[in-house]
Amino acid sequence: IITFICNDETVTAQHNSAATLLDFIRQTIKLTGTKEGCREGDCGACSVLLGKLVNDKMVYQSVNSCLLPLNSVIGKHVVTIEGLNDDNLSLIQKSFIEEGATQCGFCTPGFIISFTGHLLSSEHIDKTNAADAIAGNLCRCTGHATIHRAMEKVIANIKANSSKKFFSVSELIDKNIIPSYFNEIPSRIIELKKNITQPSSENGNTHIGGGTDLYVQRGREIAKGSFDFVTDDSDNKIYLEDNKCFLTASTTVSEFSESEIIEKIIPDVKEYTKLFGSLPIRNRATLGGNIINASPIADMTNILLALDSTLIFQNGTQTREIKLEHFYKGYKLLDKLPEEILKTIYFNIPGGNYKIKYEKVSKRTYLDIASVNSTILISIIDDKIEYVRIAAGGISPIPMVLKNCSDFLTGKTIGPAVILEAANIANKEISPISDARGSADYKRLLLRQLILAHFLKLFPAKITEEIAV
Ligand code: FES
Ligand code: FES
Repeated sequence: IITFICNDETVTAQHNSAATLLDFIRQTIKLTGTKEGCREGDCGACSVLLGKLVNDKMVYQSVNSCLLPLNSVIGKHVVTIEGLNDDNLSLIQKSFIEEGATQCGFCTPGFIISFTGHLLSSEHIDKTNAADAIAGNLCRCTGHATIHRAMEKVIANIKANSSKKFFSVSELIDKNIIPSYFNEIPSRIIELKKNITQPSSENGNTHIGGGTDLYVQRGREIAKGSFDFVTDDSDNKIYLEDNKCFLTASTTVSEFSESEIIEKIIPDVKEYTKLFGSLPIRNRATLGGNIINASPIADMTNILLALDSTLIFQNGTQTREIKLEHFYKGYKLLDKLPEEILKTIYFNIPGGNYKIKYEKVSKRTYLDIASVNSTILISIIDDKIEYVRIAAGGISPIPMVLKNCSDFLTGKTIGPAVILEAANIANKEISPISDARGSADYKRLLLRQLILAHFLKLFPAKITEEIAV
């Protein structure tokens, strides 16, 4: 039984919990303003807002309903385009019309949902963050310039005569961004939650994290099957203990990116995670899913490998730990029993004067799968490399640590000859294949350039760009 609030209606239905929200809202409750485009999380036509109650306050995120199991909306507030205005158009909808930001209109509901999500959830409303919020939405008609103009006009309007960086739900209602029923949602969610139970886990069912890749690859099959979905709404997924950083497997990429704990350890984390995927994908994709999915070019796995992370599995009352580095036995082959569930990931907080850097090459800079990616964790003492660990993806059947390269660098003084030799050694320990993301030779070249890029960017006084030629 699925019970949630959709716009201002409470919806209760008996439905397979693995079916997608998109199919449910379009086919069962006939809210056809939400569109079906790619069904792969790439176009944003199916965007909706998902609101959950956190400390008596609603927190809204944009998500791709084509990749969202119905199970994930139980006890939550789903906002479709039909729920964004009452009898009159909202300020955003008016602005889109005035600026010519809609032509055929197929993409428009998704853009308006994503931009409304920015105004509802961002702690810093501005045109740059608004552009990131709509980065997962694609328009084939407008050229996007008019869409940006429409958003800038709304931002200028609501920030006029105000120095505030964000606004409360009530203020956004007063500014005609959202309808007045939003004010009632927290109390209605509290009431709703008294009468619902989350579906219980069944032994032997496959657990699915965010499903952002599985629903692309096997969506129709999953929708008919029996699975357990990770629904962890706790706000303590990332914590420190005994100089270690712990992350529950259900931590989303957005939660990782926005964590103050992680930002202290990886200062540029927000920039790195923007390369992972669009905001709706980051809002759903989990660290556990990224690790278990075992893609050789998994972005989060790459960063966690450089941090020498350890995985904690649970099997009934038993737990088992294994280093992430030793977890992959071959292409998509894991050191894991079917009944083991990944619960937690942890790593030692790097000490001393360390630097960490992530690099990714893909056909497009943003929202694309990596051809090759790499993370370096390095600390220097007295001009010598005290510790270094370089992870690389896309250059072998598994995400790997460049052990020989890292061993060679340890104890060395950074200079052009040392770095070039390190890149040569790295090339001898990898086994890339030719595929849609590039030939094996091209990937070898990319890894070399990424290793050089790490040192060029981290130690510009010691290396000059000429070595990258
Ligand atoms: Fe394209 Fe969902 S239909 S992202
Ligand atoms: Fe046609 Fe955007 S207006 S796809």
